[in-house]
Amino acid sequence: MFAMMHDCFERNIRYLRLSLTGACPMRCTYCRPAFYRNTDRSLMTASEIESLVRYLVVEHGVSKVRLTGGDPTTRPDLVEIIERLATIPGLRDLAMTTNGLTLERMADRYADAGLMRVNVSLDSLDRDQFACITGVDGLERVLAGIDAAVNARLTPLKINTVVLRGDNETQLPSLVNFAADRGVAIRFIELMPMGPLAEQWADRYVSAEQMRQILQPVTAIWQPLPQGSDSAKRYKVVLRDGRKTEVGFITPMSCNFCSACSRIRIAADGMLYPCLMDQPRGSILPGLRPRFDPARLDRLLSEGLAKKAAEHPQRGFIVMTHIGG
Ligand code: GTP
Ligand code: 5AD
Ligand code: SF4
Repeated sequence: MFAMMHDCFERNIRYLRLSLTGACPMRCTYCRPAFYRNTDRSLMTASEIESLVRYLVVEHGVSKVRLTGGDPTTRPDLVEIIERLATIPGLRDLAMTTNGLTLERMADRYADAGLMRVNVSLDSLDRDQFACITGVDGLERVLAGIDAAVNARLTPLKINTVVLRGDNETQLPSLVNFAADRGVAIRFIELMPMGPLAEQWADRYVSAEQMRQILQPVTAIWQPLPQGSDSAKRYKVVLRDGRKTEVGFITPMSCNFCSACSRIRIAADGMLYPCLMDQPRGSILPGLRPRFDPARLDRLLSEGLAKKAAEHPQRGFIVMTHIGG
């Protein structure tokens, strides 16, 4: 029997978000500041990652692991990492959040290695707007990647769209149509004020309620779905033309979901982030190097978790690209 980890507010920790690298070929305007330099050094190796995750799953009852970045697909040993994690008994959900650029080429390999599902960022279906937001003329590749991931059964696949005032907010109806056509879920995310990009937040923020108003002309029925372990408020939506799809809203700003938080984040360099928007609380690397030391790892984890905030601060401490959401 395992000993569940919990924080100082008695919230059990079941969901590990593991950033594999800070590197990302995209430059999304809301995520990665123009001057940002990736500081990846002394990254955890594939074998250290396996030892860490195996320990958290087998001894501490973590049941859900999400690989993030930067973009996790830039990590050359990603397939090996997935293969290693997929062998861990008790890991019920092994997922990845990605910009989608590599999926067309690699979705089958990720699925064969044991990845269960992917969430893919897609902020616009307009080629020029997509390039403006992400810094990469990659819309066609991402769309082909979404198809490849669905064909590889990396499902349920969810599209993540960060909604930006005066920018992609007019794309919401087309994106919902796209999700309905492909049979995938879509989640619209409220912009979070992270690091230096927080300066632009007030000008760019759109609340979930405003997003829903933008969707009114194309939607007929909104039927709430149980939230389950999803971070979004989910709805089964019937479109005015009769098609159905699942739409979710991730509302960290208008209605945070911190009281039910079951997450910890560990960055590629071993830094522990008990809350996405708060400071890092030390490195867990001394529990992995020079050799795996469970007692030390436990101490470092519980010291960090003791500092987990009750709810996130108004402004995020780090830039999002460092930790991948
Ligand atoms: P599912 O397991 O499929 O529900 O995925 P997820 O929503 O947990 O993961 P994903 O990486 O797709 O996260 C989507 C977005 O939700 C992130 O990019 C963030 O913008 C936001 N988000 C994820 N986790 C947190 C969190 O702990 N706190 C806050 N405030 N926002 C989060
Ligand atoms: N606010 C909300 N979500 C963000 N993401 C990146 N930056 C922000 C932000 N400022 C999300 C992206 C992607 C994940 C890596 O993080 O949509 O899903
Ligand atoms: Fe964009 Fe994701 Fe890269 Fe951030 S990590 S710049 S959201 S693709």
